[in-house]
Amino acid sequence: METTIENQAFSYKNQDIGNGRGVYISTYGCQMNVNDSDRMYSLLEMANFTPVDNPLEASVIIINSCSIREKPVHKVYSEVGKYKRLKDQNPKLKIGIGGCVGQQEKDKLIKNQPLIDFVFGTDTIDTLPDILQNLIEQESKRKEEKSKIVKAGFAHRDPYHVETLVRNPGVSTFVNITKGCDNFCTFCVVPFTRGREKSRPKTHIMQDIQTLAKRGVKEITLLGQNVNSYESECGTNLAQLMKSIAVETPIERIRFTTSHPKDFDQELMDVIAQHPDKICEYIHLPFQSGNSRILNLMNRGYTREEYLEKIAMIKKTIPNVVLSTDIICGFPGETEEEFQDTLSLVQEVGYETIFAFMYSPRPNTKAAKFEDQVPEEVKSERLQRLFESHNKMAFELARAYENRVLDILVEKKHDDDDKPREGMIKYSGRSRQNKLVYFEAPEAEQGMIGRTVNVKITKAYPAVFRGEMVGSIN
Ligand code: SAH
Ligand code: SF4
Ligand code: F3S
Repeated sequence: METTIENQAFSYKNQDIGNGRGVYISTYGCQMNVNDSDRMYSLLEMANFTPVDNPLEASVIIINSCSIREKPVHKVYSEVGKYKRLKDQNPKLKIGIGGCVGQQEKDKLIKNQPLIDFVFGTDTIDTLPDILQNLIEQESKRKEEKSKIVKAGFAHRDPYHVETLVRNPGVSTFVNITKGCDNFCTFCVVPFTRGREKSRPKTHIMQDIQTLAKRGVKEITLLGQNVNSYESECGTNLAQLMKSIAVETPIERIRFTTSHPKDFDQELMDVIAQHPDKICEYIHLPFQSGNSRILNLMNRGYTREEYLEKIAMIKKTIPNVVLSTDIICGFPGETEEEFQDTLSLVQEVGYETIFAFMYSPRPNTKAAKFEDQVPEEVKSERLQRLFESHNKMAFELARAYENRVLDILVEKKHDDDDKPREGMIKYSGRSRQNKLVYFEAPEAEQGMIGRTVNVKITKAYPAVFRGEMVGSIN
């Protein structure tokens, strides 16, 4: 999920590049940041800046940062360090920080890191063209008139006009439905970086989706920190919103992320079950810890038993459901026995995919101040054991897909070292269960991208499947 640059210090090969209006954005963190970066490129393009794929061609480098754990924050600082040589060669190069570290640290970043020229917040990406224009104008001023800090906003708001600006929606794209979070899980920095939870109006969301459908989008993922608590101004909840999208728009596949177990209700399960043609039977439902005492300390709002009850209801209502989850190892005070509860819950539910992390203390959060922090080596050892214990099950669950025929929404041509057979082209796409599938199709098959095709799975590993096309649906 996290994007990085190669492990080297950059150096211009040619002094002339990097002097134009090229902008390079380096993106870390979750889908929200991926979506925000895409819209930043759109906004800047409209203001006559040029998106570039390489920092060596950029006159502005923006790092869209993530603060969820310590590691991605460090990556941001080390990335800034790598650009030092570029800045030495081209003093006009501007480096900016956006995203959750920008929101959290604000102007402090500029004071502490002389290489950084500007900082902006998570909800003020629409101010970017002005910030950059301002910086360009500063360049032409006499030295004594220059002021380095460009005022960027950090207010939390919903600038509707930038929501629709997805630059490259492709076949599958995200649509924000909520912003921010009010849950204050004691480990989590998000309520401090993304602010209070706000639901976008249903009319705006529906308009966005209709526009995206006209641009060729077939699949949308409704996005928010806790999409289950979506509530529009007219009282529409997530289940009703998904039903409207299924019935009123031509979108072929609907997904949503992330769900909070405490707010996942029967109405939502029913809507998923009632629209099997449109709403995907894949649910990401983070449980974080399998132990009720730890869940209470995390302020998650459910016990192990309540979580398992929800899972049982989901499996009953949507029998072919595929589940994935997020887990934290070594939350403060977690004992070996309590960690065993996490291991057993993973086995009991049978997740096809897990995203697991070592607990990382974050600024402003309650858990960072808890006294009984678990030593790094214990956290790391538990994480290792968790992956090992899940791995065996993941391979078995993957193998069960072999010889099954899945509906694959074709996303792109796929090039790798393994060349396709004579007269064939390689493609990649996703199944309704969110499996990434590579397959070959005859060169004669026209316009594959955006079509849904039948692919028979020939080889299945947990992260990727291979298959052969056996038919076409549309
Ligand atoms: N809103 C989502 C989570 C967003 S953060 C939800 O509530 O499910 C994505 C994941 O990062 C979390 O589910 C959690 O597993 C992990 N995470 C968040 N804060 C963390 C921290 N301080 N240390 C380690 N992992 C963390
Ligand atoms: Fe963080 Fe909890 Fe909100 Fe998810 S629900 S973003 S883990 S505070
Ligand atoms: Fe990271 Fe912010 Fe997303 S902290 S995970 S980029 S909401």
